[in-house]
Amino acid sequence: MMKLLDQTARDILRLNDRGGYTVPTEGLYPYQWNWDSAFAAMGFAQFNVDRAWVEFETLFSGQWDNGMVPHILFHQVDEGYFPGPEMWKSVGPIPSSGITQPPVAATMVRLVFERNPNVGLARLAPLYDKIVAWHDWFMAWRLDQGAVCTTHPWETGRDNAPDWDGAMAAIDPVGVGEYRRRDTSHVDSEMRPTREDYDRYVWLVQRGARLNWDDAAMLQDTPFRMADPSMTFTLMRAQRDLAELGRSLGRDVSTIEGQIAKLESGAQTLWNETLGCYDSRDTRTGEWANSISNASFLCWYGGLPAPQMRAVLTHVLEGVTYGVPSFTPHDPKFEAKRYWRGPVWAVMNMLIGMGLDEMDLPEGQVLREGTADLITKHGFSEYFDPLDGSPAGGGTFTWTAAVWLGWASPDAGQNS
Ligand code: SER
Repeated sequence: MMKLLDQTARDILRLNDRGGYTVPTEGLYPYQWNWDSAFAAMGFAQFNVDRAWVEFETLFSGQWDNGMVPHILFHQVDEGYFPGPEMWKSVGPIPSSGITQPPVAATMVRLVFERNPNVGLARLAPLYDKIVAWHDWFMAWRLDQGAVCTTHPWETGRDNAPDWDGAMAAIDPVGVGEYRRRDTSHVDSEMRPTREDYDRYVWLVQRGARLNWDDAAMLQDTPFRMADPSMTFTLMRAQRDLAELGRSLGRDVSTIEGQIAKLESGAQTLWNETLGCYDSRDTRTGEWANSISNASFLCWYGGLPAPQMRAVLTHVLEGVTYGVPSFTPHDPKFEAKRYWRGPVWAVMNMLIGMGLDEMDLPEGQVLREGTADLITKHGFSEYFDPLDGSPAGGGTFTWTAAVWLGWASPDAGQNS
């Protein structure tokens, strides 16, 4: 059974391979997505290390002059997705979106590199400088008291998480105009963000395009700027892995070490004492989102011991059959099938589980086995209902297959 699933997962990666890059899934997401791609590379590395490096190389071919790596690269136009390149009006070397995504590439590059360091050194050297430039861009433009901010919900990957509700409600999407969503022609609208969310997503894109995505201009007036655990903990973690990669290349990593210290102090500003949890903070108003999300549990992955978060995790898991839900089931805003308002995501489980394992906490193993059980029973869908495990969102999903191969499968990490 497990061998069969390994085979299915490899087939999904090959199915979604467009030659040099991998789409998250046919139809719903027909382009190269930033963090999806990094996870795809980790999956490919289990059976084809060269293909894994190519995935990163293609991703970084879309890097902008300012160092930013876009969240979508539009390698070839596909009418099945909205908003496409004509709406983003990007300024990079190839058509792209104008925002970024959680910086997991350095971490996934390190995993791929360690599969075969001798071959990897030559592939790593040029990529290393590009990742440094991307991380420097975050440090230059996206910090608030040392915590990493997002300027669009899509950047976090957690599009409709309750974390953004307050900040999104404060946006008046005036002049957004008519547009036609494509996502709901691929997936049940009950599993997707609402119309109100989309008006604001699109309005924020139109605003960025109007400002030519100029970082300084964008910072003048920030309609949406949330300091958030997913961006903060992934960058903290990525910087640690980047420093390790730099040492392998014989580089001076003292600047990166200083950046890690800054991020560590920034992470403390995401601790919501009243909630007793890491939370998102609206930098415009200073208000907490009061959201116990799966991103809150990336603290260990980020490198924080965070002993107080274990009880929070236990309580959240008590409310579901399959953890970790993207939002606590103990809050009335929880919706079991609506994207980032409740469903469980294998990829987040992997990151949380990696962190737990590294802290020698037994919950990591429990999470891996639970994720394996979920995929074994319910397949390789985009996300799952945490109450009954039913598949939701897109099917034959790249990152779920990659997480199986690289982490959840009993064969994960073995050489083949
Ligand atoms: N996740 C977004 C979408 O659904 C974009 O990154 O289109």
